[in-house]
Amino acid sequence: MNEKNILPQEEVDAQQAYIARLCAENDAYAAETGARRQAFVLTFGCQQNEADSEKLTGMAQAMGYALTRIPEDADLIMVNTCAIREHAEQKALSIIGQYKHLKAKKPELLIGVCGCMVTQEHRKDDIKHRYPYVDFVFGTSSLHRLPQLICQKLDKGKRVFCPEESAYQVAEGLPIHRESSYRAWVSIMYGCNNFCSYCIVPYVRGRERSREMEEIVKEVEGLVANGYRDITLLGQNVNSYGKDSGYPYDFADLLERLDMIEGDFLLRFMTSHPKDASRKLIDVMAASKHIAHQFHLPMQSGSDKILRVMNRHYDTAKYDATVAYMREKIPDVTLTSDIIVGFPGETEEDFADTLAMLEKVRFDMLYSFIYSPRKGTPAAEMEDQVPPAVKSARFERLLAVQNAISLEKNQPLVGKTLRVLCDGVSKTNPALYSGRTEGNKIAFFEGFPADTGTYVDFQVDRADAFALYGQKQSQ
Ligand code: SAH
Ligand code: SF4
Ligand code: F3S
Repeated sequence: MNEKNILPQEEVDAQQAYIARLCAENDAYAAETGARRQAFVLTFGCQQNEADSEKLTGMAQAMGYALTRIPEDADLIMVNTCAIREHAEQKALSIIGQYKHLKAKKPELLIGVCGCMVTQEHRKDDIKHRYPYVDFVFGTSSLHRLPQLICQKLDKGKRVFCPEESAYQVAEGLPIHRESSYRAWVSIMYGCNNFCSYCIVPYVRGRERSREMEEIVKEVEGLVANGYRDITLLGQNVNSYGKDSGYPYDFADLLERLDMIEGDFLLRFMTSHPKDASRKLIDVMAASKHIAHQFHLPMQSGSDKILRVMNRHYDTAKYDATVAYMREKIPDVTLTSDIIVGFPGETEEDFADTLAMLEKVRFDMLYSFIYSPRKGTPAAEMEDQVPPAVKSARFERLLAVQNAISLEKNQPLVGKTLRVLCDGVSKTNPALYSGRTEGNKIAFFEGFPADTGTYVDFQVDRADAFALYGQKQSQ
């Protein structure tokens, strides 16, 4: 494709008009009752979905809603769903089920369901028939239509099931409400063209489309000027950035340009596909000032046979070569990966190949998943599905091997002082503060409220497979 896939300005303006109307209505309600209507957004899934939810909350705020984290207090609830595994869908459906009693108590409550799960027709039908109190449903191609859908529901009183757009487009200029004042997500492209045989994403996110470099540069410059310290560029395969629209620049060029922005900040990106992770990209990283020495490179399997059936377009030798080049150019790089256990046809031997690759490559950390058949994907139709008990047993073995490696990777950091961006009081360990190192490892230490959002020098006293523990050094 050689055309820009940008949502026309008239469409953005039309949504702005709906926003203005709802804002006036919500302001009038607040003036009359002394209480502002509140919106609650619940997000499942990946960072892309988190970033989308920041647009939903941004639009809700612009429409005159206050934001709340308590569903019972909300006048507008939106559930932004994920479809990557069965578990993610079941969790969302179960929570949507619980909202039935909220609607019974407050009939004027508006409930919307959006995101990847309901971009699938069969799930849209589920909501239509089994959750009659859900007011509007819209897929990922219609995120920007939220204001219009709310108006439609209010005007006609009928439930709204927004049809998917025939073309997925890039919407610029939507309001964004950022969750954090120092870490930010920036989507640089949407969709995926790869059709890995197990994956639902291309079906629920459409084809790849990239934002223009200028727009991204403007956004990142604005974030840095506003004190953001840690900025993650998002895309399902960032290495194919720019290709869909025939832009004369690629992902490495984009990184090089962003690296020129002045300020004290780190740039990260995800996800890189091993078939496209180029030497040029690694060279740009190695020479950069702001790009974190961290790389997430999902391997998925250590068996060449399985990689072929997964339609991944690389083999373990190619993967190895990329890692070797990266470690040569960026010796202190933190390397993480994704693995799927129990893909159809995975034999004991294939699984042993995966364990052997883990021992060989030695990732700092691994995100491992049990294969979950997704309706409509080729792998779900494959005959030699692995029995659930075998999948679970392999998963446990994988974790044991990786935990030992993660511990060995973290141990040499003991005694070192690292720069850590503090996230405030830890959610999992409320006696301590937590933060992230440049390699994105979790650090626990005793801190102060004023540390939140700032860099601290952190001395590592102890390490386990999952985190580093130590002290903040006085500066
Ligand atoms: N675009 C990214 C990944 C997006 S999904 C990439 O290509 O790396 C995140 C991870 O979920 C994938 O890397 C894969 O490991 C896992 N995943 C995707 N589909 C899955 C499925 N059907 N069952 C189990 N895990 C899956
Ligand atoms: Fe899914 Fe593969 Fe696309 Fe990643 S690259 S989103 S795993 S189809
Ligand atoms: Fe992300 Fe889940 Fe959609 S992983 S792209 S929210 S299917």
